[in-house]
Amino acid sequence: MWKFANPIKHSIPEAHWPTAEEARRSLLFQPIRIGPLTLESRTWVPAMVPWRATEYGLVTQDNLDWYRRFAEGQPAALVVEATGVRDIPSGPLLRIGDDRFLPGLKTLVETVREASEGHTKLFIQIIDFLAVKRRPDPKKYFGRFLEINDRHRRALSDVTEDEGWITADEAIVRAYLMDAPVEVLDRTLSERELESLRFGYRERVTDTHLTHIRELPQFLPDIFADAARRAREAGFDGVELHYAHAYTMAGFLSALNVRDDGYGGPRENRVRLPLEVFRAVRQRVGDDYVVGVRFLGDEVIAGGNRIDDAVFFGVEFAKAGLDYLSISKGGKFEDAEQPKIGQAVYPYTGQSGYECMPTTLSDERGPFGRSVPLVAQIKLAVNDAGCGTPIVATGGITTFDQAEEILQRDDADIVGMARQALADPDWFRKVKFGRGQEVRRCTYTNYCEALDQAHRQVTCKLWDRKELDEPGISTAADGRRRLLPPRWDDHLSARIETKER
Ligand SMILES: Cc1cc2nc3c(=O)[nH]c(=O)nc-3n(C[C@H](O)[C@H](O)[C@H](O)COP(=O)(O)O)c2cc1C
Ligand code: SF4
Repeated sequence: MWKFANPIKHSIPEAHWPTAEEARRSLLFQPIRIGPLTLESRTWVPAMVPWRATEYGLVTQDNLDWYRRFAEGQPAALVVEATGVRDIPSGPLLRIGDDRFLPGLKTLVETVREASEGHTKLFIQIIDFLAVKRRPDPKKYFGRFLEINDRHRRALSDVTEDEGWITADEAIVRAYLMDAPVEVLDRTLSERELESLRFGYRERVTDTHLTHIRELPQFLPDIFADAARRAREAGFDGVELHYAHAYTMAGFLSALNVRDDGYGGPRENRVRLPLEVFRAVRQRVGDDYVVGVRFLGDEVIAGGNRIDDAVFFGVEFAKAGLDYLSISKGGKFEDAEQPKIGQAVYPYTGQSGYECMPTTLSDERGPFGRSVPLVAQIKLAVNDAGCGTPIVATGGITTFDQAEEILQRDDADIVGMARQALADPDWFRKVKFGRGQEVRRCTYTNYCEALDQAHRQVTCKLWDRKELDEPGISTAADGRRRLLPPRWDDHLSARIETKER
């Protein structure tokens, strides 16, 4: 995991919790309109992959339990994890690329409605991603994967000053490369071949020599539109287009996208496919349905998008009619750490990954509300362009005061909490009922993220070993972790609620 050179250990911010009356009067608990619907407050749980779907991308009981538990906390909006738009195997991640996924997704919607007693609007994040292979064993790489060509033979003959390589038998070239010193490999293999050897093969949107990559602009709008149609059919209140982090649509937006077919290069071209996808989705689901987008305020990689790009995209998205903009940061492959042999590169291990899910080992700015300045700039530009599109800020937001100040300063319209909601899904009700002192505070040390990286069921260290003997609880495959936080003893809140009515 990437670390600052001289990290400063930050404590989690002290919290002053409001009384129920203060909470009721706060901006955080005022309703807000998002396109055709109203959220009952400005609280939001952004997408988090829990690794609970079946191998085939179907909703499991564990998925239902996970979303039920978040819904019991009654955030105004809950976004279901990144869900694949294609009908291709992608491990235990939810999918929405075919109608056979509909029954499970319908049950998920009903579960959240019931558990939140109708207080929570449910959106689903829809994603496309390109191929990422595991880092190969060098023996296999040189024995099979690498396609030997004349370029390799010429390079070898230059490096070794031996012309015999020009006509050398392929098997001899392979055998030599397998044991060749690093300097020889560096001069013989192309940059992409070296990357495939050291990190695993990874496709990019700029690989236009591959037909399926060249033709992405032709088929992605339809695939996203079909997925959005299914989301509506399943009963979700809206869809969130995943244009953030390390995935296909963020690849199109990226300043590293140099495609020369009108979909790369200048910003106007890079935003073209994301807008075409949106229009196809809008056409399929209609104007009376929420379509939002998540994208990056900064890619945090060399040569990548900065805030001025994000401002441009934000204004374009708002003008095009997206119903909300949710801003994230970083989370890219380009600066990710080298994975172990047999493992896949994980886009949250470099500096850009740090910025996506910042921890308390930080620089002087600390991890709390670290992305808010980016969000504020995007919001200002969007509002200046005459659009009132609500904007969601996320990243190290944990206390009521933080959330309220962000809204009071008009830096954002809605406040998202991912890890704090995982640490305590009842945050929203506890704060609303004046019982904030009972909140289980996230410590921002990313145990949960490490589980995500290992593709293990995501839990929180603050509760996954608690009351393991509680009857009827489900545990992780290893039997040593409970999959959901204990229930909040909320009898008092029920009384407060009754009194308030
Ligand atoms: C376990 C885990 C899974 C995540 N999965 C997603 C995801 O599917 N889509 C997404 O846009 N962000 C995902 N994120 C990022 C969060 O939505 C959020 O942007 C990030 O954690 C920073 O917010 P926080 O400080 O409130 O946690 C994930 C984060 C965690 C910890
Ligand atoms: S595991 Fe750590 S970082 Fe993750 S939600 Fe729990 S306390 Fe927060």
